[in-house]
Amino acid sequence: MDFLTHAHIEAFQAIRNRLNDVDRDRVDAASVEALDPARAAAHHWNFELPAHAADAALGSDATDDMRRALIATWALEMPERVAAENLPVEVTELYPWWLDRLSEFLIASEGGYDRDHWAKDVRLVLVLSVPGARSQILDLSSRVGPREVLRSALDGHGWGAVLAYLKAQGWRRIWLQNHTESRHTQDFNEAGWDRTWMTSAAICRTRPELAGTMGASWFYDPQLETISPRLNYLRLNPLKGGAFMIHQGPGEIHSQRSGATSPTRRGLIESGAYTPHSWLLAWPRSTLIPWAGQQAAELNRQAAA
Ligand SMILES: CC(C)(COP(=O)(O)OP(=O)(O)OC[C@H]1O[C@@H](n2cnc3c(N)ncnc32)[C@H](O)[C@@H]1OP(=O)(O)O)[C@@H](O)C(=O)NCCC(=O)NCCS
Repeated sequence: MDFLTHAHIEAFQAIRNRLNDVDRDRVDAASVEALDPARAAAHHWNFELPAHAADAALGSDATDDMRRALIATWALEMPERVAAENLPVEVTELYPWWLDRLSEFLIASEGGYDRDHWAKDVRLVLVLSVPGARSQILDLSSRVGPREVLRSALDGHGWGAVLAYLKAQGWRRIWLQNHTESRHTQDFNEAGWDRTWMTSAAICRTRPELAGTMGASWFYDPQLETISPRLNYLRLNPLKGGAFMIHQGPGEIHSQRSGATSPTRRGLIESGAYTPHSWLLAWPRSTLIPWAGQQAAELNRQAAA
């Protein structure tokens, strides 16, 4: 089956055709000019830098229609980029669904392009990040710096994480990093997260240079044990499988995100009874890959029963 369907190609071309010739030429020039800076920026922990490179190439007076057309232009080039990455089937089987969502989103969008969506779309179409499940995207290259690992331990959050980090050679190797896609959170649940970890393990198997996979969020915070126990699986399942956690601390963005969908958490934040903290959860390949093998065996056993 072709990577892009006729419907995808028609949608992406329609987005480009919304522009006049002058603006489309600018988008085409930016689609070449931004490539190297965006790729170079992709290894930085700041997930948005490739989008900043795209902004710089488009120019400060660029419109959001031009940004959408740039995403469509790069989406049309995805088959070659994806093939070059030699990704495991756990990733490639997710692409048709993600391309359906991306083309629908671009066709339906008018006016502002949310900054977070723009940053994620740049990474998706440049294959700097790849689908991990329906609600999760995985950066192919991120970093976990030694300073924050050490600070977490010095602040009293445990030295076990430092040992696990050293064992994984986490300071000199790259990591996968997960991000939640807020436009489609249908599989933001235990099964969807198991799938994310299994996809991460599949990528690690094919890329020995990876230390493992990681993510940072308010939803790994142990305080949720009592506040939102339904989210415990997010932290406990990886920890049981060999992951470790690093404390990052509070911040306005974490409070906003934690309170965004839950009246319970919002009320506790507003009353001062709960201050969300961000934690980095890292799962080294040495325990992630065996966990995924056991998980696959268990799923096969259940399917056969
Ligand atoms: C991360 C996120 C998708 C998780 O959503 P979720 O799985 O529905 O879990 P939440 O705890 O946020 O649930 C929100 C509300 O949905 C309802 N709900 C969720 N799961 C439920 C369940 N199993 N049964 C009944 N109600 C449920 C509840 O009303 C809950 O509110 P409450 O906490 O006051 O009870 C969501 O919090 C979100 O979109 N946050 C903003 C963006 C964000 O933080 N992204 C991650 C950045 S690191």
